[in-house]
Amino acid sequence: MAESMRGLHRSHRCTEVSSGQIGQTVTVMGWVQKRRNLGSLIFIDLRDRSGILQLVFSEESAGEEGYRKAGSLRSEFVIAVSGTVQKRSAAVNENLKTGDIEVIAQDLRILSESETPPFQIEENSQTKDEVRLKYRYLDLRRPDIQKNLMLRSKVAYLMRDFMMREGFLEIETPMLCKSTPEGARDYLVPSRVHTGHFYALPQSPQLYKQLLMCSGYDRYFQIARCFRDEDLRADRQPEFTQADMELAFVDVDDVIDVNERLLQYVFQETVGVSISLPLPRMPWQEAMDRFGSDKPDTRFGMELKDVSKTVKNCAFSVFTGALAEGGSVRGINVKGQAKMPRKKIDRLVEFAKGYGAKGLAYLAVNEDGTYKSSFAKFMSEEELKALVRAMEGDSNDLLLFAADKNKIVWNVLGALRLELAKELNLFDENQYNFLWITEFPLLEWSDEENRFMAMHHPFTMPMEEDWEHVDSDPGSVRAKAYDIVLNGTELGGGSVRIHQNDVQEKMFEVLGFSKERAQEQFGFLLDAFRYGVPPHAGLAYGLDRLVMHMVHADSIRDVIAFPKVKDASCLMTQAPGLVDDKQLEELGITVSE
Ligand code: AMO
Ligand code: AMP
Repeated sequence: MAESMRGLHRSHRCTEVSSGQIGQTVTVMGWVQKRRNLGSLIFIDLRDRSGILQLVFSEESAGEEGYRKAGSLRSEFVIAVSGTVQKRSAAVNENLKTGDIEVIAQDLRILSESETPPFQIEENSQTKDEVRLKYRYLDLRRPDIQKNLMLRSKVAYLMRDFMMREGFLEIETPMLCKSTPEGARDYLVPSRVHTGHFYALPQSPQLYKQLLMCSGYDRYFQIARCFRDEDLRADRQPEFTQADMELAFVDVDDVIDVNERLLQYVFQETVGVSISLPLPRMPWQEAMDRFGSDKPDTRFGMELKDVSKTVKNCAFSVFTGALAEGGSVRGINVKGQAKMPRKKIDRLVEFAKGYGAKGLAYLAVNEDGTYKSSFAKFMSEEELKALVRAMEGDSNDLLLFAADKNKIVWNVLGALRLELAKELNLFDENQYNFLWITEFPLLEWSDEENRFMAMHHPFTMPMEEDWEHVDSDPGSVRAKAYDIVLNGTELGGGSVRIHQNDVQEKMFEVLGFSKERAQEQFGFLLDAFRYGVPPHAGLAYGLDRLVMHMVHADSIRDVIAFPKVKDASCLMTQAPGLVDDKQLEELGITVSE
């Protein structure tokens, strides 16, 4: 029978009890992790969010009734125990924070009983994700997830602490909004009062934070929920959290400076990683050329090399054909892997095709100076030598080449580089390589839409020196945009914003927005900018991703209390669900099918 809390007060969490309290009485409460009966003694491992504490029951200390009750305890019962702290009678358990002590129980209350849980509550559970997520409230009892969520809470606290000291104000922005233009699909919320009208849940607080700058708040910060209806991946959720900021009267360097110090503070105080400042910066073009990615993992080499010039006159039509169509031929050098079995190379070819390649050409430099290659027969000895030299190849190296449009070549080799590094263990998990990527292209051509699209969003400021060729060569205009990258993941991104109406109008024109459509969608922002707007800039981190990387989690779900699965549903609550006809009727909605 469940007993009450009357007259009881918890004095310590489990691991707050220590050898300093030997001889004292403590009252602890938590869940039964394990019970062991040893002769006339019953040992209970008591668990709470701090960890484990060993309790010992004997008839002598707990009385006949207490001892009998202790014998009835099973996993996940919730109990309260008062007793005396003593030095462990048996060997010290080095794995436990409380491994040198135990509590001799005098009083036991069973606060609640538990059915046998569908899986055992333990670290690194091997239980299937579906089961864990269905019973998420049990999964959340596991020490590794509890550690992650405690760290997450600390990160949010430290960020607030830092931002407050730097003069930022925390201001909340609405959840029921007009659509924000971040480029993903919106989650819509129907309005009951305005039948047929919809709010959009924010993809980010972007427009509101810009308006706050316009209103003179000059430094804004918010830990903000964002919603994006896009395909989920290991590091994406439909509902996620941004640590979002905006600053007035600043340029790129000011934003980078505050954020470098913020990262330094948070990483030092949480995972004890010291970051030396300033962090390296790399223009987007260099990142693509060297790593085939705008979020390069710089913990290892295997950089891309452009060999277009070296192969331009060869007889291998795969190479020359790609060049003739305005593409390039680039390669990576997989050091010491010339003996990679054919089967494995074939797998890499298939992998490359998954990233849009038509194929993957390879050249292995054997120890005796001969080659094993898919294309050597099309090249003279001289040409092959020149190619190996251009790739800084040595005997025993495996050279992999992709020939296509730049975008595809970067994509393919960038992905291969990461895949091979993982397979060959080329990087250190505990190294933290931060990197700013700067000077992104302002615009990106979309074949699908047959027009230029904003690479970041339509309010991103072009680089002054490039703006004059916006008409003649829009694709070449760089933006005052920056991303902060950690070990190959984009942790956050932002930009300086356009604050001049003429530049903004031109930007809409280039993006193919009519004046009317721009006014209809963002009229409030454009109007606001007519009444005195300071130059401003900002940045947002994906808080979930940041924490994910601090704890080396494989999935973003491991740092979110109640995450969704791949099809954006919640296995525990079964959301999304059907609603009553009456609710739909009130909203003026009929569902077809
Ligand atoms: P952006 O769209 O780059 O910029 O988003 C900022 C950061 O948010 C994280 N993020 C996500 N995390 C989890 N799940 C998702 N579906 C998801 N989508 C994005 C990423 C990303 O770097 N308003 C601008 C910021 C600005 O310009 O100030 C914005 O939202 O870590
Ligand atoms: P094929 O002429 O299609 O038989 O291809 C000859 C070799 O070139 C094979 O090893 C292909 O995998 C490779 N290959 C084909 N297309 C490309 C490409 N676009 N880039 C690099 N290698 C390719």
